[in-house]
Amino acid sequence: MENIEALREEVLAEVENAADLAVLEDVRISALGKKGRITGLMKNLGKMDPDQRREFGQTLNAVKDQVAGAIDTRKTALEDASLEARLVGERIDVTLSSRPDETAGRIHPISQTIDEIVSIFGEMGFALAEGPDVEDDFHNFTALNIPPEHPAREMQDTFYLPEREDGSRLVLRTHTSPVQIRTMQNKTPPIRIIAPGRTYRSDSDMTHTPMFHQVEGLVIDKKTHMGHLKGCLLEFVKTYFELDDVPVRYRPSFFPFTEPSAEMDIGCSRKGGELKIGEGDDWLEILGCGMVHPRVLSACGLDPEEYQGFAFGMGIERIAMLKYGIPDLRTFFDTDLRWLKHYGFVPLDVPNMVRG
Ligand code: PHE
Repeated sequence: MENIEALREEVLAEVENAADLAVLEDVRISALGKKGRITGLMKNLGKMDPDQRREFGQTLNAVKDQVAGAIDTRKTALEDASLEARLVGERIDVTLSSRPDETAGRIHPISQTIDEIVSIFGEMGFALAEGPDVEDDFHNFTALNIPPEHPAREMQDTFYLPEREDGSRLVLRTHTSPVQIRTMQNKTPPIRIIAPGRTYRSDSDMTHTPMFHQVEGLVIDKKTHMGHLKGCLLEFVKTYFELDDVPVRYRPSFFPFTEPSAEMDIGCSRKGGELKIGEGDDWLEILGCGMVHPRVLSACGLDPEEYQGFAFGMGIERIAMLKYGIPDLRTFFDTDLRWLKHYGFVPLDVPNMVRG
């Protein structure tokens, strides 16, 4: 009897201390298995006299039940614990947004520069406008006061699409200025738009690629004058180049669609072969601009006696190269990942007026 009591204590302690299911199974086999310690005592029953057997048998059965029950309880507890551990280990927080790996993708400097330009002019109240890359003759030339046979058509080496049935040919737009036309045709002034996009010219060398980007600006109202143009562009270059002041000058120029026309230069220094914007006694051309030509207003159905305004056009690659010190234009379109990794921008680094 003491043996049974001692064995009971021993086995129950082993069950309680079993650290995992495998150990618990070993305990079960060593107690209740065919050759187990409790099973072994059962076998003694046969040798006992009936009274002894009944008493001993009852006690042994009770111990056996108690041990089996304890094993079951422990098993459930261990299973719960292991499930819990697995759930914790395999936990996925589905509320976590999938963030881009900061070391992987990069925003191309052209996209970044466009975002910057749009953000700066957006603050000044300009809306974003777009037009198609494939244009018709009217929007790319005629409405911009460049009639057929006009020598100005030769100013830009145009990509023409195959002739259509009526003899006309579409073109890949040679500048973003056709967006001026589309905007004036579809909106009544006041108009203030900024139109970035791809442009195409059959030209390829160190400083020209057949496809490049421009951004067009257009302001039309009743009393808009050249002073507005100058103030607006000065504000832009100061903000874009992140400088408190930038010397600017306007040189008379010619565009068929503006009168007067000008090219805007910004002050810079080229000392020691290093270009610095905003200081020094050198000049750098950055854009073309002017007051919208009365003929252009008329072509869009606006009365030049009532409305006037200004327009400007700027090469995006050029000002991106100036701001970010990118020396070679053609590298923009090499799709070289090492270049992109060096000059590109981290995706979450979205330009705005607060952060620059
Ligand atoms: N479209 C001109 C160009 O391609 C730039 C320009 C736009 C000039 C608007 C004046 C006004 O060079």
